[in-house]
Amino acid sequence: MNTKKNFLYISNWKMSLSLNEALSFASNYYDEILSLADRENTQMVIAPSAEALFPIAQAIKETSVALSAQCCAEHERGSFTGQISPRSLYELGCSYCIIGHSERRSFNNESDQSVAKQAQTLFDNNIIPIACIGEDKNAYDQGETLSRIEEQLAPIAQAAQSSSHQNTPLCIAYEPVWAIGAQKAADNDHIESVLAWIESYLNELALTRSYRLVYGGSITSHNAARLKSIPQISGFLIGRASLDFQELEKIVHYR
Ligand code: PGA
Repeated sequence: MNTKKNFLYISNWKMSLSLNEALSFASNYYDEILSLADRENTQMVIAPSAEALFPIAQAIKETSVALSAQCCAEHERGSFTGQISPRSLYELGCSYCIIGHSERRSFNNESDQSVAKQAQTLFDNNIIPIACIGEDKNAYDQGETLSRIEEQLAPIAQAAQSSSHQNTPLCIAYEPVWAIGAQKAADNDHIESVLAWIESYLNELALTRSYRLVYGGSITSHNAARLKSIPQISGFLIGRASLDFQELEKIVHYR
């Protein structure tokens, strides 16, 4: 079932801020972020880079702001030098973890199978995966959007079905790769047709786990209202605009 409770605003800080800059940003806008998080039907999620997770977790511990990691290992523990354990993310207080972001898929060669394995380990540790899927420019131009989406989604959906903690929802972030870091977001018709396809694919599988669909790719205060009008959407994955607090505030305020 596509749950639309609470609109999610996921701030993906990527590696745009150093540790000190991330902590300054969080402390400069602390009260403002909390007051956004206290709005009705609103869930604010911050995804800082790995080194900032612990101090940010401490800062937002008693608040309604949720914490997300930007990536994780496929495994809970073991000989995986330099990787981030989903178990530790849970212990740290993360309730979400972004997986399969197109930058990880392209710069770190993450495969569809690896992303699905990460999803499985996150479910097993009671963390909501924000699983990013989306076609690149070439697939879009060739009219192969849906076949690329299916290749990415199928293993994630299978992990959602076979993992434990069926109460932990799945979050799918549709991010057309060509709209990330671009001048403009995808248009509503395109997003709506892809999300409708994802919805029917997941509904046909009769997942017992609930899921939600979010959009990402060049969200700004100028397109937030039109993107929010897409019926299947119940959240945004926001890159650049999340680091301009006034911009983020406007995006949250548009209904
Ligand atoms: P953008 O990034 O909002 O800067 O396009 C989105 C993302 O990469 O998730």
